[in-house]
Amino acid sequence: VADGTLRSEVTKTVGSAQEALWILEHVESHARSGEDVADEARALASRRAAGEPLQYLLGSWPFRTLELSVTPSALIPRPETEQVVEAALRRWRSTRPGDGHAIVVDLGTGTGAIGLSLLAELADETEITVWLTDRSPDALELARVNAGRLGAEGIEIRQGEWFAALDGPLAGSVHLMISNPPYVAERDRAGLDPVLSHEPDEALFSADSADGVPGFSDVETLIRGALPWLAPGGVLAIEMAENQVEAARGLATSSGFVNVETIIDLAGKPRGVVGEAP
Ligand SMILES: C[S@@+](CC[C@H](N)C(=O)[O-])C[C@H]1O[C@@H](n2cnc3c(N)ncnc32)[C@H](O)[C@@H]1O
Repeated sequence: VADGTLRSEVTKTVGSAQEALWILEHVESHARSGEDVADEARALASRRAAGEPLQYLLGSWPFRTLELSVTPSALIPRPETEQVVEAALRRWRSTRPGDGHAIVVDLGTGTGAIGLSLLAELADETEITVWLTDRSPDALELARVNAGRLGAEGIEIRQGEWFAALDGPLAGSVHLMISNPPYVAERDRAGLDPVLSHEPDEALFSADSADGVPGFSDVETLIRGALPWLAPGGVLAIEMAENQVEAARGLATSSGFVNVETIIDLAGKPRGVVGEAP
């Protein structure tokens, strides 16, 4: 990849040999004839050095089995979310609610990372329809691009606030509902990694719940509202912040969910809650 001089120049600018390599590979594989690879690599390196997330500069990023388009319209899919998908898959496989056609809903889908992964990974095991929803039309535009790569079969895309995006007849028939909602408290904004300032606010921040759990209001809305949409034995899996897990477990249990468990990420941290409709 590129000559050694350009490589060390880009490495110096971005402060990472691995990132420099990714940038150079990206520029070389996307170069149109006549375009100056070195100039383009230098331009991306400067943007990276100024704080833009690498994923947005490269325009695509892996998530589980998929390579997803990523743009500033939606959150960059994170490794901890891969673990939430893993936990949801494990629970779904152990109980297999309903038989035959699986109905899966990914609320607040962003790039489509969660729902499209479930479609890709479950397609060999079951007939499946995946609903991808988001409040943000721009995020859904991107989800549509990513969905297009998998073929349109079995994918429904809807815009709207949480459950309001779903068609009424789905009530009582969802086998797996999953979400990575916004859960960062506004009061934590100042201490955040500056990379997050490039991602949409509406993907990150949530109000405190009425009883004062920071950043918990969207998680609370989802747990309180999910049960009527689920089929008997249907699984609910939600990602959240570590300090919200206890409140979420209590709320899920008092809302009527059974077999409520904590989802632990690869670093051993509580990252979410999974439960089942009775
Ligand atoms: C943390 S991002 C998750 C994106 C993607 N699911 C992932 O895991 O990478 C939260 C998503 O929820 C969407 N969202 C925020 N508030 C919403 C609401 N009230 N109704 C529906 N979607 C909402 C945001 O637009 C954003 O795409």
